[in-house]
Amino acid sequence: MFNFSLNRITLAWRRRFRWVALALVSGLIALTYGLTVWAQQPVTISFLVRAVEADQMQSLANQFMEENPDIRLEMVRGPNAADAVEDLYTTSFLLGDSPYDLVFSDVVWIPKFAAAGWLEDISDRVSDEELSEFLDADVVAGLYQDGLYRMPFRSDMGMLYYRTDLLEEVGLEPPETFADLIAASQAIQEETDTNWGFVWQGSQYEGLVTNYVEIVAGFGGFWIDPDTQEVGLDQDASIKAAEFMKQVISDGITPGGVTNYLEEDSLRQFENGNAAFLRNWPYVWAEANKEGSPVAGNIALKPMVHDDGQQPAACLGGWGFGLSATTPHPEEAWRVVEFFTSPEPMKAFVMEHAYVPSRRALFTDPEVLAEFPHFEQLLEVAETAIPRPPIGQYAQLSDILQRYLSAAITNQMTPENAMQAAARESRRVLGTDG
Ligand code: GLC
Repeated sequence: MFNFSLNRITLAWRRRFRWVALALVSGLIALTYGLTVWAQQPVTISFLVRAVEADQMQSLANQFMEENPDIRLEMVRGPNAADAVEDLYTTSFLLGDSPYDLVFSDVVWIPKFAAAGWLEDISDRVSDEELSEFLDADVVAGLYQDGLYRMPFRSDMGMLYYRTDLLEEVGLEPPETFADLIAASQAIQEETDTNWGFVWQGSQYEGLVTNYVEIVAGFGGFWIDPDTQEVGLDQDASIKAAEFMKQVISDGITPGGVTNYLEEDSLRQFENGNAAFLRNWPYVWAEANKEGSPVAGNIALKPMVHDDGQQPAACLGGWGFGLSATTPHPEEAWRVVEFFTSPEPMKAFVMEHAYVPSRRALFTDPEVLAEFPHFEQLLEVAETAIPRPPIGQYAQLSDILQRYLSAAITNQMTPENAMQAAARESRRVLGTDG
């Protein structure tokens, strides 16, 4: 009896054990399956980029994802003002948990980002030989102390666009000097039904600084000498540059609304046939010549105008990729950088949007030249373009210049007072006011 009941109990436990074992095994199978599926989920690599450029980069991003199904590329669309994007990156890194695996970086951000430790030194990931295929100035912009923190994707340089049909109508040659530009604008405004002479970027943002860098150099001056840290803002040339910007507005050559213009706004005026001259970056070529554009076929570009006896100047711009120091996926993020900066994708981007490549060989690529004959001239401009000062306090110095220039062109201060105050504040930031 005793034995019998013992056997029954054992039997019941055995049955129960069988169920438990079965449940455990099924659980394990489910877990393994789940883990496998999870492991096959693509890794997301994310970066922030100006909205207008994200749209243009989307087809390359799609191509990358097709070729790399283990990576999902997320381009977060930011504001179109370059320094507003920088502020967002800065805040995300200061908060300590940046969601960005890559930093799509303007040519002027690296000293600050590298010094703050927000970027990985990528010098071991790319050889000197590979780097030698890129424009020197674009590579130099990625250097900080002994490290490399940015791979160039595209370069940029400010140029002057003009309407060939309007110049022909008034019988004038393309302008060389500031005075020529004013005279040609006035002639076109008087003799044709074009509203404006010259449009540019006058909003209080980084673009205003790039316009100023060109004009001040065209008057023979400079903003900050990167080697000596000397500030040139209160010198004659700098004051003349601010006066010129103010004068074109007060003479009605430039619309008053320019003080709110970013690149896109000035392009719209030019593209719609409302202005004879435009200072902008090379991408405008494709945009203003696209099918349906009222000015297609009637535009040309040349180096910026300058003062008598001086040389034309182009401000160096451009964008590239930095690797975020906090990304949990540096290898996948680096594959994205390799893709965008390799010859074929860069060429596709150049061919579609007329952006200036960072790879030197693309300037003389027969297909590129057949589409954009002016690239030969751009290479020369690219090699001599003026960089903005590569210093850690760049953002602060740019902000000072933006504020005072804006005050000068909106009639809140005289150009002279504005530039003197800007010079004083800049020297304080640099610690050279002593
Ligand atoms: C362009 C240039 C960039 C510059 C910006 C200013 O995007 O490539 O370097 O800072 O314009 O608006």
